[in-house]
Amino acid sequence: MVTGCGAYLPERIVTNDELARRIDTSDEWISKRTGIRQRHIAADGELTSDLALAASRRALEKAGCDGGDIDIIVLATATPDNTFPATATKVQAALGMTGGAAFDIQAVCTGFIYALAMADNMIRLGQANRALVIGAEVFSRILDWEDRGTCVLFGDGAGAVVLEATEGGERGILSTHLFSDGRNYNSLFVDGGPGSTGTAGYLRMAGKEVYRHAVVRMAESVDRALEANGLSHHDLDWLVPHQANLRIIESTGRKLELPMEKVIVTVDRQANTSAATIPLALAEACDDGRIAKGQLVAMTAMGGGFTWGSALVRW
Ligand code: ACO
Repeated sequence: MVTGCGAYLPERIVTNDELARRIDTSDEWISKRTGIRQRHIAADGELTSDLALAASRRALEKAGCDGGDIDIIVLATATPDNTFPATATKVQAALGMTGGAAFDIQAVCTGFIYALAMADNMIRLGQANRALVIGAEVFSRILDWEDRGTCVLFGDGAGAVVLEATEGGERGILSTHLFSDGRNYNSLFVDGGPGSTGTAGYLRMAGKEVYRHAVVRMAESVDRALEANGLSHHDLDWLVPHQANLRIIESTGRKLELPMEKVIVTVDRQANTSAATIPLALAEACDDGRIAKGQLVAMTAMGGGFTWGSALVRW
C-alpha cells in the first residue's frame, strides 16, 4: 500500500521564451507540439541524490516514518551521481538507514514502474516490509543544448513513494507489468556516458518513432493490467501516465476511453523528467486531494530501450 508521496523540483524555472532567446525555437512550436510551457532545471552542483533526498524526506513525512523504518530503497534514474556506487546508497546514508538494502534501477522513463515492481515483489516475497521507491533525474546534464529537437522536451525533478506491506490485499499494488524490446536500443539513447564506451555523451532521439511506440504501448500496458485483474477502463478513477508530451498523454487517454478530467497532467509545468514524472504527478494529485483512498489508479510509462509497463493500484 502507498502510504506517502513526496516531490521535489529545483527552484529555477526555464520558460519556453527563455529557451527561444538561446536557440532557434519558439513558445508556439514547443507548446503546440508538446504541451510544455516550462521546466525546472537543477542548480550548479545540485545532483540527482539531492533531488531524491528532498523528495524522499517529504514522502517519509507523509507516511509518518523515517529512514530507520525503511528496509529497501529502489531508486530509478538514468542520471546517477556517479557510475557507481548506486545513488540510492547515498540517499540511504543521508536518511540514516543502516539496515536493509539500497540499489538503483535503470529503465529510463519507465524506471519508476520498474522500481515499483521490484519493491512490490520484494514485499510480496517477505524480503521487505517498507520500501522507499524513488524516481530522480537531472536530464539537463545529458542534453545537447544545441539540439532544439530534444533539449526543449526535458526537465529535472524527483518524486518518491513509501510502499508498505498490508494484510488482506484489498488496497495496494494490484499488479505490475514490465516490457522491453532491445531492437529499439538506438531510437532513444545517450551516445556515450560513463560505462563501457568511456566517452561523455548526449541524449539522441528518433522523435517520430518514439511517439509512434508511446501512443500504442502505454495504453496497451494498461489494458494488460486491467485484463489481469478482471477490470475495465470504466473502473479507473485516475490515469497517471508518464509525462513526455501532452499529445501522447491525450492519445493514451482516448484509447482507454478516459476523459481528460481523469488524467493527471504535469508536463505543461515540469516537461519530461524521465523516471520522476509519475511520482511527481502522484505527489501533486495526492496533495491536492484528487487521488483518494479506495480509488483505482493506473500508471503507465514508455522510454528508452524501448521499455514500457504499467502498475495498477488500489489507493
Ligand atoms: N523548435 C522549432 N522547430 C523545431 C524544434 C523546436 N524545438 N524541434 C524541431 N523543429 C523543427 C524540425 O527541424 C523540423 O523542421 P523542418 O520541417 O524544417 O525540417 C520541424 O520542426 C518538424 O520536426 P519533427 O521532428 O518532424 O517534428 P515532430 O512533429 O515529429 O515533433 C517531437 C517532434 C515533438 C519531438 C515529436 O516527435 C515527439 O513528441 N516525439 C516523442 C518524443 C518524446 O516525447 N520523447 C521523450 C523521451 S521518450 C518518452 O519519454 C516516451
